[in-house]
Amino acid sequence: MTKVITYGTYDLFHQGHYNLLKNAKALGDYLIVGVTSEHFDEARGKINVVDDVLTRVQHVRDTGFADQIIIEDHQGQKIEDIQKYGVDIFTVGSDWVGTFDYLDQFCKVVYLPRTPDISSTDLRVQKYKALRIGIVGSGRMAPRFVTESKYVSGAEVTAIYNPNLESLQDFSTRPDEETRKGQPYKGFYMESENYENFLDEVDAVYIASPNETHYEYAKTALLRGKHVLSEKPLAFTMARAEELYDLATRKKLVLMEGVKAAYCPGFQQLINVAKSGVIGEIRDVEANFTRLANPGSREREDAEFGGAFLEFGPSVLVPIVKLLGPGYKDYKFHSLYDEKGVDLYNKLELYYPNAMATMRTGVGVKTEGQLVISGTKGYILAPSPWWLTQHFEVRYEEEDQVDVYDPPFQGDGLRYEISEFVRKISGISHNGYKLTAEESIWMSQIVEKYMEYKDNKKEKTS
Ligand code: CTP
Repeated sequence: MTKVITYGTYDLFHQGHYNLLKNAKALGDYLIVGVTSEHFDEARGKINVVDDVLTRVQHVRDTGFADQIIIEDHQGQKIEDIQKYGVDIFTVGSDWVGTFDYLDQFCKVVYLPRTPDISSTDLRVQKYKALRIGIVGSGRMAPRFVTESKYVSGAEVTAIYNPNLESLQDFSTRPDEETRKGQPYKGFYMESENYENFLDEVDAVYIASPNETHYEYAKTALLRGKHVLSEKPLAFTMARAEELYDLATRKKLVLMEGVKAAYCPGFQQLINVAKSGVIGEIRDVEANFTRLANPGSREREDAEFGGAFLEFGPSVLVPIVKLLGPGYKDYKFHSLYDEKGVDLYNKLELYYPNAMATMRTGVGVKTEGQLVISGTKGYILAPSPWWLTQHFEVRYEEEDQVDVYDPPFQGDGLRYEISEFVRKISGISHNGYKLTAEESIWMSQIVEKYMEYKDNKKEKTS
């Protein structure tokens, strides 16, 4: 009996997949089809797959060509499978010619002709009208967003807005960096005078303007029927955040607060491991994020809307709200300010009935940027940069017992956030469990408390 094996994602199952499976089956007597798991696709940067794994498996089964269907979930699995199942022939489409030649030590490798003019990628583009995204603000985040959005199919940055014409021009004439990958700013619709004209050119906006402008820009965009991904903090008060989410719900629009960690696959895994009970009951969360910002930067200069808390507060609040929830009973802030009144370093303690949390943020003080989640049976340690989670460990009383996790992570992490935004807009991702509206509103409540604390403190010292 000749055993044949082939692998694929089989997303939005199409004629090319059908032909490939038919031809693969014809190569032998028994066909094994490996279908990629969601996690594996995510790990190799394929973040736009529409169908879930069970749907894709069903589509393969429906062809009637597969004698056995397996799940491919890690690198190196092909060699394992070929040996485990005693495979004689490995085959894939001709788009992979050469890539799998190394398998010829284990079995025969055959590249079957690819069906022309059809692919899951094309179908995704046809099915989901490409989303035109406009960026509000042309500072540090804008070029990063442009670069990372290229890894997300179904989205294209087409416009940019900045009321400051000089900054806008500076953005458009920046020297061609490696990250520009062929002048992506060329052909952008640029607007510096009329925000509403800019909104009319796009389907969705990414707001990366100064902190104090997020709310107004988001509100105007939602009122004009545009989906919104806003940099953190979304709003300075709970009431304003609630108002924005209500507005989005009423207008059937997507509103997301862009806290990168929340959308990063490794971070989701870390949260799930913490909640799985391996460390017992969670009793303490310590989350730190500090970066020595350049003197002269907005974070170091703007006493009202710069500073460490507004810069990093939302990021460190995410693990706290995800793990301990919104129900704290008491809290305490402590901040160190410079002579201009900019908070260089903060500590916030939150007291829950059965747990506690500490967060530290800094723009002028450097400390270990770690996340430590302590439980009744053990603890999780995620070193800096835990917000772009690539490594964490579960540790126990016995020092030699350590579970190590190295989740995949690509680019600078923004692509996961953009991908979630696009998936929500196209209805592929139905609920916002990665960062819920309630969690985002709770974060605005803490920001509000911080702003009150800061105002009170200033009154006392002035
Ligand atoms: N395939 C094919 N002809 C096509 C498309 C895919 O023969 N027109 C083959 C691939 O070579 C592979 C298998 O089908 O052996 C599964 O491919 P997959 O990557 O799932 O499909 P694509 O349409 O290529 O997906 P994408 O556009 O996401 O890369």
